[in-house]
Amino acid sequence: MKFDNLTSSFSMNNGVTIPCIGLGTWKMNSEIAHKAVLEGIEVGYRHIDTAAAYFNEDGVGRAIKEAGIDRKELFITSKLANTEHGYNKTLNAFDESLNRLQLDYMDLYLIHWPVIEEHKDRYKEDIIETWQAFEKLYKEGKIRSIGVSNFMIEHLDIIINNTDLVPMVNQIQFNPRVIEEELRAYCKQHNIVVEGWSPLVQGQAFELEILNTMAEKYNRSIAQICIRFALQNHVLPLPKTTHKDRMIENASVFDFEISDEDMKEISKLKALGRLGSEPNIPRGGQQNPSK
Ligand SMILES: NC(=O)c1ccc[n+]([C@@H]2O[C@H](COP(=O)([O-])OP(=O)(O)OC[C@H]3O[C@@H](n4cnc5c(N)ncnc54)[C@H](OP(=O)(O)O)[C@@H]3O)[C@@H](O)[C@H]2O)c1
Repeated sequence: MKFDNLTSSFSMNNGVTIPCIGLGTWKMNSEIAHKAVLEGIEVGYRHIDTAAAYFNEDGVGRAIKEAGIDRKELFITSKLANTEHGYNKTLNAFDESLNRLQLDYMDLYLIHWPVIEEHKDRYKEDIIETWQAFEKLYKEGKIRSIGVSNFMIEHLDIIINNTDLVPMVNQIQFNPRVIEEELRAYCKQHNIVVEGWSPLVQGQAFELEILNTMAEKYNRSIAQICIRFALQNHVLPLPKTTHKDRMIENASVFDFEISDEDMKEISKLKALGRLGSEPNIPRGGQQNPSK
């Protein structure tokens, strides 16, 4: 895999390509997301990651409209809220997301979390029904690619063994603390692109001594080391920032390479473990923080 710039891409198992770094938008309200996405597109980002649970799809959608970029150049991802699993609810929730984004089609739509509180006692059936709605939307051409998020091997097995289409993407937590070797090997075997959320450990990367040492060694920032660490592990990072200068910094990672030895050194941070709960712990819906 060779990445030269922000528009270099990963290829999915259906032939669709996806720009190799996405701008994350979690914890941005609509107004902030509107400004950040406009600035992100201005500095060269073409891949934007949002979710119904971020309550900012309308701001993202306004920015896309105003950016003046050909829609075909952009890659827009959203995710199904945990409260909307199930066949019919998924179809409705997708239409609502598309409306909020003011789009005719979505590039990637993901099941946000595998096991939800409401259906935890029948989560296998729930995953199958929900995925079948994703397949319908995909076959109708409303979504260019479909995938999942936070799925462990046991959850991916449910889809692969019981439905028509293998997910094209699995968006998981990935950063020097969480490298998920076994899950990534499974995804590689099934030709599933791995996207990495919280690539900067939600800001905690800046406190880690090994990363500081690497940043000094390569004369780069800690954020750039983390983003490069993801790319060199064949993971598509989704760094979030509301600052234009940091957007540029986070995308300026195509002119250096971390050595194999240093990749191993950074991987030692996996001993610190993940942020938040394992995805087999059921989750419910999220409240809109601005209400
Ligand atoms: N699928 C899921 O379940 C899931 C879960 C979590 C996240 N995500 C996605 O992944 C994206 C990224 O994850 P995340 O938002 O949790 O965290 P992250 O990208 O690991 O870290 C974001 C934090 O780092 C700061 N930051 C960014 N660039 C920086 C730089 N160059 N220098 C210094 N600080 C910097 C940001 O602050 P400023 O904004 O102030 O710059 C923010 O506090 C999310 O936004 C979302 O799109 C998905």
